[in-house]
Amino acid sequence: MSLKRFVLTLLLASLWAGCVVAADGDVVFKREGQEGTTPPAVFPHWIHRIRYRCYACHASLFEMKAGAVRITMDDIMAGKFCGVCHNGKTAWAVTFETCARCHKGQ
Ligand code: HEC
Ligand code: HEC
Ligand code: HEC
Repeated sequence: MSLKRFVLTLLLASLWAGCVVAADGDVVFKREGQEGTTPPAVFPHWIHRIRYRCYACHASLFEMKAGAVRITMDDIMAGKFCGVCHNGKTAWAVTFETCARCHKGQ
């Protein structure tokens, strides 16, 4: 393989890997400070993307940028963000039994 071709292949491979990581990886929310002991929430993108098209969430519910807005449980309980679906109708609800399904970050 010529050097030029090798470099091109490497470039394409890293671009591809970059896309996969950005779009398919779980979003681990970063939370400022230490608000209690609940670990940050993790959003499994892939599990949602096999069920919904991008525009089900982007950009009406979420920006295409991790940590773009501050999400609180008050918002979710009021039916915003994750609470649009995690309400016991479209998907399982937010209860004390389900905290750990979302809050599994470090
Ligand atoms: C459907 C997913 C989901 C469930 C279920 C859920 N949360 Fe959250 N929660 C989030 C997201 C997303 C955030 C914003 C990112 C973060 O701060 O981790 C958040 C934020 C928080 C925060 C920090 C912001 C705030 O409102 O104070 C606390 C504390 C919290 N959750 C506690 C809980 C507890 C306790 C439960 C169970 C009763 C729970 N959560 C259930 C998704 C969820
Ligand atoms: C069920 C809702 C949902 C669907 C469907 C969805 N996303 Fe997302 N996406 C999210 C959430 C939540 C975040 C994190 C937003 C935040 O942190 O504020 C996110 C973040 C992103 C990010 C930023 C990731 C990062 O690390 O910064 C990209 C890129 C993205 N989505 C692309 C897509 C594409 C492309 C599709 C369709 C193939 C899609 N999303 C479908 C909810 C969704
Ligand atoms: C557009 C609707 C929609 C939105 C918005 C949404 N979810 Fe979900 N979510 C679903 C559905 C549907 C399932 C599958 C429910 C089932 O299997 O019973 C699911 C499943 C999950 C699961 C379980 C994954 C597994 O391992 O089985 C987690 C965790 C989760 N969502 C977290 C979140 C968090 C955190 C948010 C907000 C950042 C969010 N979801 C926003 C519809 C949504």
